[in-house]
Amino acid sequence: MTKINKSLALMAGVAGLAMSAVTATAEMSYPALAPLGEPPIPLDNKMSDAKVELGKILFWDPRIGGDASTACVTCHEPDQGWAFGDSLSRGYPGTVHWRNSQSVINSAYLGQLFWAGSAASLEKQAPSAAKGAVAGNGENDVMETRMAFIPEYVKRFNDVFGTENPLIGDAWAAIAAFERTLIVNDTPVDKYLAGDTSALTEEQVAGMELFNGKAGCIQCHNGAQATDENYYNLGVPPAERWEDDGLAQVTFRYELYAKGVSQDMYRKLKDDPGLYFRTKEPEHMGKFRTPPLRYTLYTAPYMHNGSFWDLREVVEFYNAGGGENDFTDGTMAATKSELIKPLGLSDEEIDQLVAFLEGFSGEELRVEPPVLPPYEALASE
Ligand code: HEC
Ligand code: HEC
Repeated sequence: MTKINKSLALMAGVAGLAMSAVTATAEMSYPALAPLGEPPIPLDNKMSDAKVELGKILFWDPRIGGDASTACVTCHEPDQGWAFGDSLSRGYPGTVHWRNSQSVINSAYLGQLFWAGSAASLEKQAPSAAKGAVAGNGENDVMETRMAFIPEYVKRFNDVFGTENPLIGDAWAAIAAFERTLIVNDTPVDKYLAGDTSALTEEQVAGMELFNGKAGCIQCHNGAQATDENYYNLGVPPAERWEDDGLAQVTFRYELYAKGVSQDMYRKLKDDPGLYFRTKEPEHMGKFRTPPLRYTLYTAPYMHNGSFWDLREVVEFYNAGGGENDFTDGTMAATKSELIKPLGLSDEEIDQLVAFLEGFSGEELRVEPPVLPPYEALASE
């Protein structure tokens, strides 16, 4: 466990701590950063080479979607960190998405997917991506019928799942299996934590000490995944495009409506309510899941709405004590995390912390794109 001294002010609000037991120099401990092992494999979706290969083809196939134009890979591009290199992701044709596209690298380790954690497994995440109105916008029956007219799919699904015709639920299972192979767990930080002290430079080691100490990053980015999978509001400023881009506003308004906010909020909100959408608890306004930090060198821009374009900008944001998000009526500003405070890092310390973060990325993961199998008309009987 990594120990860190925290002031009384920082302790306020930590769940489960009786205030009377807190002293000004109380020590809190967090799961230490650790090398990332192998991802968990669910018992009901075992891995096999044939399943992974099928999932890979489906990940690239735009026919798993609405108008056969938008595949998973369209918004999770291998040369853009398996994400999409714009503040807000591109959307289904005719729309922009309303959030930044997350990398699918290492998503296999997460128990809560999406920025607000709305899917609990990769098997459940894939359909919401392929069917969501501003993402894939697909329809189950149409996608299933398309696959039935692609003989190579019929054969591959039969080999892997034993079905006569491809079932859409099996497509999600295959895609999830493929995603469980998109793993980067041999970064310089992993090697260092596994005992290879030459894997990080002196500057990076100094950055790691700041991460665990003065900069307090470990309070949320902890354990092997560098995330506690908890939700916080850092005061990330609202997406600029929601101010001046009508198309982006359409999606924002649509999401507010579809996810059922009150009439009053629908009119007033100028920022993403995050976790609030799921729980409708006012204290969850503007909170997002702590993201893991591996591979971030390749996944700019950062945060749920892509507010920052490089890692130094992110560290400077933390150093300034975070920011201010929509405070139209104060509800969102009120939920900002007490852990986000000015850090007093010098320029040199900022460089060290950035160098450490870069050590979390390793080599880019590239794969050979698959060849998409063609349709064939089936003889009528
Ligand atoms: C139109 C763009 C788009 C398409 C198409 C798309 N995604 Fe995404 N993906 C996103 C965005 C944006 C997010 C974050 C959305 C949010 O949190 O609300 C995301 C999030 C994810 C995550 C969560 C990662 C994490 O850290 O929690 C996974 C996994 C994922 N997508 C996989 C897929 C798969 C599989 C497909 C195809 C079935 C797909 N995506 C299709 C844009 C897209
Ligand atoms: C209070 C918990 C907390 C602390 C402390 C914290 N973070 Fe974060 N971090 C988060 C959350 C939550 C997000 C996503 C916020 C959002 O999108 O609105 C985030 C996002 C990030 C991102 C962007 C990742 C991406 O994929 O977009 C980086 C990089 C990052 N943090 C690094 C750090 C560093 C470095 C520190 C220490 C200076 C730190 N964090 C301290 C919770 C925290």
